[in-house]
Amino acid sequence: MAAVLLARGGGAAARALTFGCLRQLHTVYQTAELPETHQMLCQTCRDFAEKELVPIAAQLDKEHRFPAEQVKKMGALGLLAMDVPEEYKGAGLDYLAYSIAVEEISRGCASTGVVMSVNNSLYLGPILKFGSEEQKHQWIAPFASGDKIGCFALSEPGNGSDAGAASTVARLDGNEWVLNGTKAWITNAWDASAVVVFATTDKSQKHKGISAFLVPMPTPGLSLGKKEDKLGIRASSTANLIFEDCRIPKANLLGQQGMGFKIAMQTLDSGRIGIASQALGIAQGALDCAVDYAEKRLAFGSPISKLQAIQFKLADMALALEGARLLTWRAAMLKDNGKPYTKEAAMAKLAASEAATTISHQAIQILGGMGYVTEMPAERHYRDARITEIYEGTSEIQRLVIAGQLLKEYRG
Ligand code: CAA
Repeated sequence: MAAVLLARGGGAAARALTFGCLRQLHTVYQTAELPETHQMLCQTCRDFAEKELVPIAAQLDKEHRFPAEQVKKMGALGLLAMDVPEEYKGAGLDYLAYSIAVEEISRGCASTGVVMSVNNSLYLGPILKFGSEEQKHQWIAPFASGDKIGCFALSEPGNGSDAGAASTVARLDGNEWVLNGTKAWITNAWDASAVVVFATTDKSQKHKGISAFLVPMPTPGLSLGKKEDKLGIRASSTANLIFEDCRIPKANLLGQQGMGFKIAMQTLDSGRIGIASQALGIAQGALDCAVDYAEKRLAFGSPISKLQAIQFKLADMALALEGARLLTWRAAMLKDNGKPYTKEAAMAKLAASEAATTISHQAIQILGGMGYVTEMPAERHYRDARITEIYEGTSEIQRLVIAGQLLKEYRG
């Protein structure tokens, strides 16, 4: 699979825009310090994004349309199960590779980026880490190829940041678990074929009573809520999952009973690297757009890129982006080396998501009126960036995680 992934994708596609023609996605950040495999991967994903995603991203966003065909192609390239070993039909790469790939895909289409990230980190991640051998064979391979995608259900209408307060219940009845409750804000919900669900098996134990389960979709007793009408990432579906006496086999418990909260937290540590990478892609897309416009737009007799007011903005945008990228790569490399990375993943997500919000805001400022209309991608980057500060832990939660880890380190 890795070989498929590294076989170079198609060529670049220029995109005609109202204001001139945005050049193909620029190579503006240094990849020379990366291993050769990762440089090739970066180029493959960039080519794929230019050819397959950039031309349709605005339309997908407008129509709230899931990129089914592109997701299938990404499966064939190995992008949907990047750190999954080849014996389970994954690409057998590492998290640094995953981070680079999510960034490049998100640079083309942020919705496709989150579809990819949720499948890799939130669905396959916990199965790979906590699943039995049998579960790995059953629940991973079809989700690596792009035939199926998965989702992750932790939040509820009554609890988001306080993940330990789950009120969805799972009761053992003979050889089956019976699930009741509602899960909220589930990315990929309408397009998924399975979900990792967190439910309490013993309320008196609080977070220690939460367990994780594997549920096929569709399945009797599980229904979908309405598709949320969102500000951004509109090509990915988000909806509630409603469990009403939903019966699943006893064998679908993931990990040990009562281990669910730890599974969720560890899964989110990895997921935050994915969302940080998605935010980098959005930020890079916004910067590309701003630079291109600034070089072409004339004011006071020359391109606005000659104005210090614009140059200062571009410098700050590039600085925030490069700093966030280094934090993200560091978190990924710590994970790849088996080192603790909870704090670093939270730092990466916090820095990258705030950078994406600021950079996409400033890109609109540089484009002026052209940044405010849909002929240019700047307004979409701005809308897409916003969620990266909310899902997989808000910026406030990232600060809590960072401070908690920092204090632990000081206290020894
Ligand atoms: N790794 C392993 N264990 C961890 C951990 C981690 N990163 N973080 C906490 N734990 C463990 C603790 O060690 C502790 O263990 P013990 O009980 O054995 O002592 C236990 O979990 C409880 O820890 P805390 O007391 O710190 O837990 P808390 O209730 O105070 O919550 C929190 C901590 C950081 C606020 C956590 O609830 C959290 O991360 N909240 C945000 C949830 C979130 O990100 N939600 C996003 C949902 S997914 C999504 O966005 C949907 C999508 O589709 C994209």
